[in-house]
Amino acid sequence: MAKTSAKNSSSSTNRPPRVAIAIMAAGKGTRLKSRHPKVLHEVGGKPILSHVIATAAKVVPAKDIFIIIGHEADRVRAAVASSGVQFVVQAEQRGTGHALMVAQEALAPYDQVIVLSGDAPLIRPDTIQKLSAFHAGQKATMTLLSADLEDPSGYGRVIRKTASSSDVRAIVEEKATSPQQKKIREINSGFYAFSVPALYKHIGSLGTDNVHREYYLTDMAAVLVHARQKVVVVKTSHPAEVLGSNKRSEIVDLDARLRLEKCQQLMEEGVTIFYPQTCVIDSDVEIGADTVIEPFVQLRGKTKIGADCRIRSYSVIQDTEIGDGVVVLPGCVMDDSRIARNATVGPYSRLRPGSDIGEGAHLGNFVETKKIKMGKGSKANHLTYLGDTEIGEGVNVGAGTITCNYDGVHKHKTVIEDGAFIGSDSTLVAPVRIGKGSYIAAASCITEDVPADALALGRARQTVKEGWAREKKSQK
Ligand code: UD1
Ligand code: CA
Repeated sequence: MAKTSAKNSSSSTNRPPRVAIAIMAAGKGTRLKSRHPKVLHEVGGKPILSHVIATAAKVVPAKDIFIIIGHEADRVRAAVASSGVQFVVQAEQRGTGHALMVAQEALAPYDQVIVLSGDAPLIRPDTIQKLSAFHAGQKATMTLLSADLEDPSGYGRVIRKTASSSDVRAIVEEKATSPQQKKIREINSGFYAFSVPALYKHIGSLGTDNVHREYYLTDMAAVLVHARQKVVVVKTSHPAEVLGSNKRSEIVDLDARLRLEKCQQLMEEGVTIFYPQTCVIDSDVEIGADTVIEPFVQLRGKTKIGADCRIRSYSVIQDTEIGDGVVVLPGCVMDDSRIARNATVGPYSRLRPGSDIGEGAHLGNFVETKKIKMGKGSKANHLTYLGDTEIGEGVNVGAGTITCNYDGVHKHKTVIEDGAFIGSDSTLVAPVRIGKGSYIAAASCITEDVPADALALGRARQTVKEGWAREKKSQK
């Protein structure tokens, strides 16, 4: 094993054992009643399988991780390919035992294979290491990871040779259990370590004599015991980490566990999260110390928040980078944007992709931005749309300003230079440039560039008809 010191005593030389991890991810997930492959359903904001891969990659290098794919193989491969892992295709899914049969060639160069389930995302790296080390220490052919569950229903049960020994006689699938066996609370986690040569020497003895007519990997226990090979069990002290996701309710439960754990980890790191049960924070989100997250906030994807920020309630922030000391007032929606330090955003601001808000800038009530760069200290406080716009420093964008960036066919750019003042209710028809320090009179429709330090008026002159209203009323 690359990153641990587990010794493989089964190997005749003194070199460390070559360890691979195989992740079974070829199944359809029939019980979810879904059009999408089970392992791509999301928990903690990313596919279930991505969590398993991330954990496996903490134990062995990505090149030694083999994902067994089959159902919707292309989609599954595309979703996780960037992790650098290897793939084995199980074109027909004839059971977990069959999944390992098709991986024979890929695994042949290794001494030990650790088998993980692509639908069980809570497994921890230290537990995988413990399983691997126990297997090597016991000189076993097969070692299974078990857990005691309050409610073992749905899982295979571990039949030990005697209650006190770690030797296993068999694994019995739920559907095949006797009433007596059904009471066993020690379940098979679906995580195993095998000696590769011994696994493939005997895997041909697996049969399909079961309700699903499948090759069960679980039957390897009895097969190997019959062949006088050593099969042992090691129990995890964190039963929750083996939980799988065969049913929708299980996926939702895993998601809740991951997110609560994420909140707890962030709090350990100095972040205050009020009512963490109401917050949805994805696994890869980063937050600096002393930042306060109010109830009902969603932080998704690759969002990064600095230190000393305050994120007030009901904001949904996706893939956005926020500097230190930023205040996000209630009800903001952000996507793929950047906010520099000490800026204030909201309430009810909508930052669409490519919004880049400068240091100390203010975006206020009902302001929508898309693909903009706003300089240091600039403000757009009320009811405004800014799209495809470059705004300098110290600019004031008055209430109700609209950049008309789209002519029905193409998008055009607006430039507002440093220190410009845009009066309320202006429409800036792009492409247009508002020069440095210039003024736009309120309610102007600006269609031509405005030079620096000028005043531009683009509106009809007001006319006043004295006595007009009085006269109209008297005619009634
Ligand atoms: C399996 C175990 C059960 C254990 C449980 C733990 C078997 C027969 N049973 O049951 O003892 O308690 O896991 O969660 O192994 N897969 C393939 N190819 C296939 C079939 C399945 O790659 O042909 C993959 C699935 O995508 C899944 C994993 O193997 O990621 C486990 O399969 P699943 O059908 O979920 O097994 P369980 O019924 O949960
Ligand atoms: Ca499962």
